[in-house]
Amino acid sequence: MGRLRSTVWWRTKPLSDLQLDGERSGLRRALGRWDLVGLGIGAIIGAGIFATVGTAAAGDAARPGAGPAIILSFVFTACACGLAALCYAELAAIVPVSGSAYTYAYATLGEVMAWIIGWDLIIEYAVGNVAVAISWSGYFCEMLRGVGIIVPPWLSTDLRTALANHELVASAPHLLGVPIIVNLPAAGIVLLITWLLVRGVKESSRVNAGMVILKLVVLTFFVVVGAAYVQPENWKPFAPNGWHGVWAGAAIVFFAYIGFDAVSTAAEETRDPGRNLPIGILGSLAISTVVYILVAVVVTGMVPWFDLHTAEPLTVAMNRHNLGWAAGIVAVGSVAAHTAVLLVFQMGQPRIFFSMARDGLLPPVFSRVHPRWRTPHVTTIITGVVVACFAAFANIEEMVDLTNIGTLFAFALVSAGVIVLRRTNPTAPRPFRVPLVPWLPLAAMAACLLLAAGLPAVTWVRFGLWLTGGLVLYMLYGRRHSRLSRSSPD
Ligand code: ALA
Repeated sequence: MGRLRSTVWWRTKPLSDLQLDGERSGLRRALGRWDLVGLGIGAIIGAGIFATVGTAAAGDAARPGAGPAIILSFVFTACACGLAALCYAELAAIVPVSGSAYTYAYATLGEVMAWIIGWDLIIEYAVGNVAVAISWSGYFCEMLRGVGIIVPPWLSTDLRTALANHELVASAPHLLGVPIIVNLPAAGIVLLITWLLVRGVKESSRVNAGMVILKLVVLTFFVVVGAAYVQPENWKPFAPNGWHGVWAGAAIVFFAYIGFDAVSTAAEETRDPGRNLPIGILGSLAISTVVYILVAVVVTGMVPWFDLHTAEPLTVAMNRHNLGWAAGIVAVGSVAAHTAVLLVFQMGQPRIFFSMARDGLLPPVFSRVHPRWRTPHVTTIITGVVVACFAAFANIEEMVDLTNIGTLFAFALVSAGVIVLRRTNPTAPRPFRVPLVPWLPLAAMAACLLLAAGLPAVTWVRFGLWLTGGLVLYMLYGRRHSRLSRSSPD
């Protein structure tokens, strides 16, 4: 009996079924390669380059900063992501279905792994969005300050930072002796986006293209204006904390690259997916990498690395040189860039819940669609409320670390999936093939592990607890209700 059950758990969903799901979805295939590149950049460029680059360069209580060598951190992380992106490209082209890593795991590694990935993707999408919302709040307050509106710190700071600042706590209003501290703008933007998504405001390709152009223009503006204020002595010493700092920095800036994988969720709406998905995934990653390296070179040249420990390093760099007007432009572009990321991820999370509920791993209510607005309103609202609550109190660094470990785990499993599928379905037509299998996917897995090892121990503990909780849920619900095991018990 035990053996029988385990056979069911590890059973994979046949590739042909998945491909049929994609063909039958009825979604309009309207996206071409440039739409996908735009979609990728829309999801990639956000809090990572506008905020977390500061912690990565300057370090914090838990780790050393990379200093100007953050430039190398960006290069190394780009290589790791490039390897994972190739694996995503192969699987996205062969299984062009919108569930992304969750679907690939179901096709290659079996149901338990698919569940774990789906559970893990909550970290990438929902926890990632908590971090982006907190960063959004920082730049939004900066933008308001530019027009003379000051948001009090007790209304725009996370709990951990606030409690370490006695002055801030004293300035906050108290209720029954307890200081009121909440990051209101962070929670507010999440709720606003949730409301828009429930009402069916779809991020059309054109709106996304507008946001992408704005992001790229603002970052190019930062590079061009900032370059004139670079002082080469700020690049010395280049790597103040040696390789350890570069490694810890790479584990943080990984956050900046997350999003290229979101391109694969548009598989069912893509023309000629076998050709265009790999172009979208790899193209958006390549363009973002070039932009990141240029920004890293300029920002570390403008300000001494140890002064970059701030949530708004790019505007701080501009203000340091009395370029208040330029800081204002960067803040506005940054708010738009963050908003685009929030939209993409806030839309992606319900889609994953939807796929999992369709397979019976979550209750059917998770796949309910609103009768009038035709949106997955239940999961959109649950996601929105939970993300907003965390965004109101959580600390950005902790959320970024957790997002990174969860996403690295997903990337490693997708890379393993390429090797498995080559063995189980060697003759399936592959419009895009990763070269040097199994070595290249193995290198991708090793790179993900190496980056994850650069994260603090407490992050590993939190991640372990999250996965354990997920497995308990699977035993209690998914195991019994899985459509695959019900339809053909061994
Ligand atoms: N890569 C995305 C960002 O930096 C998550 O905001």
